[in-house]
Amino acid sequence: MEIESLVRKNILKLKPYTSARGDHMTGILLDANENSFGSVVKDEWNVGLNRYPDPFHNMLREELGAYLKVEKENLFIGVGSDEIIDLVVRIFCEPAVDNAITLEPTYGMYKVVCDVNEVSAISVPLDKSWQPDLEKIYKSITKNTKVIFICSPNNPTGNLIDSKLIFELAKNFNGVVLVDEAYIEFADKPSLINSIQDYPNLIVSRTFSKAWGLAGVRCGYCVASSQIVSLLYKIKMPYNLNKLTTQVILNALKNNLQKDKFVEAIKIERQFITNELKSNPKIKKVFPTESNYVLFECENPTEVYNKLIEKGIVIRDRSNQVKNCLRVSVGTREQNHKFINELRNVL
Ligand SMILES: Cc1ncc(COP(=O)(O)O)c(C=O)c1O
Repeated sequence: MEIESLVRKNILKLKPYTSARGDHMTGILLDANENSFGSVVKDEWNVGLNRYPDPFHNMLREELGAYLKVEKENLFIGVGSDEIIDLVVRIFCEPAVDNAITLEPTYGMYKVVCDVNEVSAISVPLDKSWQPDLEKIYKSITKNTKVIFICSPNNPTGNLIDSKLIFELAKNFNGVVLVDEAYIEFADKPSLINSIQDYPNLIVSRTFSKAWGLAGVRCGYCVASSQIVSLLYKIKMPYNLNKLTTQVILNALKNNLQKDKFVEAIKIERQFITNELKSNPKIKKVFPTESNYVLFECENPTEVYNKLIEKGIVIRDRSNQVKNCLRVSVGTREQNHKFINELRNVL
């Protein structure tokens, strides 16, 4: 497949901004109108806060690439994976002309990003087991469909999407398939990052916000063909990733065993919550999950949600997406106990 043929013409023609720090990182730097005297706060990390960061994230891509065993040229780093979703839509979808497909119920940002960019989001329902219905998807694809979003594990349902279906879709679809693996660390099957060699139209995005415990730092990344990665670097804001974020992520990579420990602990707590919910006769259904949250069904979910808020327990009302369903993120054992007890009282 020719990726170029899918790209918006203005993006192909675009002459990207050439940033000073893209050209030079060392020397007597008098090129970027920075403050050569220093910064007004102590530079705790000694990263040179008075200087703009590397627009191409070279060091981070080398370290993250080594950790993931993917080539640097196949790696793009963004301000959270949300930035990547937005950039992908802006590269491939012509406003007011093209469209993208979302598989509902799913993560709400795909549609919001489409709406912001005046790209119509065609919603195709997942089937009864929350898997993509390929026939329905094929029927919904038009000549202007450029992107299909697949969230795996899916938010809010929690299930992993069958990789065979993803590959079949990628093979048959003349557009890009963005697989959002924000929660993949909690799943029992591996990431699809290594499949980008076989499917040039596949983009796999991941994040440091969940398993790594770094939601406040804002860092996500995607693995894709070098052609797609170059396009992402072409259109992103020159200095999207700040030096503090970069430093924190470099440190996180050195401490990746802690991430594995978190994942183990979260899986245990996920099972605890699932068991407790299942043992409550007022809970109608508890969905299996390969993520760090549990979706469950009860009567009057919005009322339950509000009563829990009154008790200081904040979960997510997903009943507008999945009938009668609430979603709870896995907490510590103490938090989970409080949630389970208050939920029992409320019900
Ligand atoms: C499926 C999914 N993708 C992406 C994100 C956003 O991730 P990030 O923090 O990397 O922007 C979320 C956040 O909840 C999510 O649920």
